[in-house]
Amino acid sequence: MSALRFSDTISAALTEAILVVTIDNAPVNALSANVRAGLMAALDHAEKSEDVAGVVLTGAGNSFIGGADIKEFGKPPVEPLLPEVISRIEALGKPVAAAINGAALGGGLEVALACHRRLAAPTAKLGLPEVKLGIVPGAGGTQRLPRLIGTAAAIDLIANGRIISATEAKTLGIVDGVSGDALLADTIADIKTTSAASLRCTGVLSVPSEALEAIDKAAADALRKARGQRAPAEAIRLVRLAATTPLQEGLAEERRTFIELRDSEEAAALRHVFFAERAAGKVEGLEAIAPRKIETVGIVGTGLMGSGIAVAALNGGYRVIGVEQSAQAAEKGRDRIAGLLDKAVQTGRLDAAGLEDRLSRLAVTADMQQLAEADIVIEAVFDDLTVKTELFQHLDTIVRADTILATNTSYLDPNVIASATQRPERIVGLHFFSPAHIMRLLEVVNCKQTAPDVLATALALAKRLGKLPVVSGVTEGFIGNSIFSAYRREAEYMIEDGALPHEIDVALETYGFPMGLFAVYDMAGLEIAWARRKRQAASRHPTERYVVIADRLCEAGRFGQKSGRGWYAYPDGKRRIDPEVTAMIEAARAEKNIAPKHFTADEIVARLLKAMADEGETLLSGGIAARASDIDLVMINGYGFPANKGGPMFAAGRR
Ligand code: 3HC
Repeated sequence: MSALRFSDTISAALTEAILVVTIDNAPVNALSANVRAGLMAALDHAEKSEDVAGVVLTGAGNSFIGGADIKEFGKPPVEPLLPEVISRIEALGKPVAAAINGAALGGGLEVALACHRRLAAPTAKLGLPEVKLGIVPGAGGTQRLPRLIGTAAAIDLIANGRIISATEAKTLGIVDGVSGDALLADTIADIKTTSAASLRCTGVLSVPSEALEAIDKAAADALRKARGQRAPAEAIRLVRLAATTPLQEGLAEERRTFIELRDSEEAAALRHVFFAERAAGKVEGLEAIAPRKIETVGIVGTGLMGSGIAVAALNGGYRVIGVEQSAQAAEKGRDRIAGLLDKAVQTGRLDAAGLEDRLSRLAVTADMQQLAEADIVIEAVFDDLTVKTELFQHLDTIVRADTILATNTSYLDPNVIASATQRPERIVGLHFFSPAHIMRLLEVVNCKQTAPDVLATALALAKRLGKLPVVSGVTEGFIGNSIFSAYRREAEYMIEDGALPHEIDVALETYGFPMGLFAVYDMAGLEIAWARRKRQAASRHPTERYVVIADRLCEAGRFGQKSGRGWYAYPDGKRRIDPEVTAMIEAARAEKNIAPKHFTADEIVARLLKAMADEGETLLSGGIAARASDIDLVMINGYGFPANKGGPMFAAGRR
């Protein structure tokens, strides 16, 4: 065996006349310029050398190839381009196999699709997730995948950006085999039996014919989830094209579309989100701090929020002890948690064995003393300062000295709760969003005295719960509700200044929010915020601008959708503009002598973005948020801000 090097990232060794080429471009073996050049050189060598009978491509570390190098997008292209490398693989006169040892995503799967044989490790993940970045595959994915697995299945994978296991890839026909412990040896053995004369080039296969209804259904399903984004529709068009167009023409159209989308605002925004997600939860100075070991999670309160947290913790593999005030409430809590798990079984997200395993790790009790076994206790009780403080003081007497206490408050000051306890350094905030087993966002609140290893543990726990953690400092409402308050306030100012609720809602929905603000208010109900405003009235500064319209609605018994009337009317259950509300708005304007002005949809969006971005700047300068992109993630994942606009900070910056 002799070692060869073709670039900094591409090395190779000759084994039994097979050139095993290893891509080593940490962290995910992305197809950077150096990788592409090295692969080209390795292929040239393989073609020319009489000692080489075939080639195996594989990746170093945990990835096969994580895709094109996203960091290169937006920079001038560097030769050789990926489609050239891929064409070279497919056209090589000697057999080429992919030994897919880990993630083969985007350009990584496109490389594999051009190989003549593909074997995967059982842990490998395969997919063309480009639509998640606002683009389509740009190196043959839309043209080669349908030739291998058919149009409907290719649409399902590409237009949804779905990532699949090696087993599913085998069932679909993407890989020729799944190999156990000896992937490389198996792939070498496999390619040795593949003769150069019988090479199967994916690109020359014809797309299998199938029922048009199946294709239309796959397309319609994907478009429904696409929420107005361009890439999924373009991906569907390109996959359909493969069936009727020669390979080279299809590839050219795919590349043209890829470049157009890659350079779009939507793709820039989604790339921003991609890197924002990777940066979130990283805290300067915390890199070297080891998190504490967590095996048992205590949860006080198993209502809507607590039961969702329990399901997330069970899914994360933890033992869960739920605590309620009475045996009866504990039984109800257990039923609620089991009910959520049952739902997961019914929808196919969980199998019977998974359910049994989770239930075996769950205990719900009325005996608080059982929390002595917990490594962390998360409270999910009524959001009241006295209730929470007394609970934590009581927990102080029960739990071990190294047990972490987490508060799931939305509006209370966790520093006040912490300072009332014996060990404030073990207190951290975990602000879950409802439903807690579904929503990805988790605000991890770094309180004044939170110890570094407590924060590190909270972040590690969040990751194991499958959450997207964003660290927030302490301020009323943390990051999310602070920005949301600024957004809401500005919307109400605009109502007073001349806009109507439906005009704001239409502008927001056109922009990409799933629902307008006032429709959301009506759905959630107006009375809780009304009660809060009444509590805050005494401390409100007399010169602060205050819009009374929401109060007037509540005084008139308009509490939202459930009472049939709110910002809108719901005479037949459907949302309708209500002239009565318009009259109330006009009366409120007249009281303040405000001459209403007309707002265009763009002006509405611009004013709301500015209000959010200004509040975001305040959070950044006060050290509450570490980076602007964290604020973007909170608004996208907690408040319906459209991901393809990149979040309020990104969007305001682009304007
Ligand atoms: N390009 C550049 N950097 C990438 C990258 C890529 N394709 N994929 C991941 N990275 C970086 C991340 O930014 C992160 O950097 P950091 O350490 O500086 O924060 C680092 O690699 C590790 O990433 P993760 O934290 O995501 O690592 P995981 O181990 O959790 O996951 C992965 C690995 C499954 C490969 C995941 O990173 C991933 O999904 N990557 C993106 C896959 C993708 O979308 N590929 C398509 C790219 S577009 C394309 O290929 C176009 C083609 O059709 C022409």
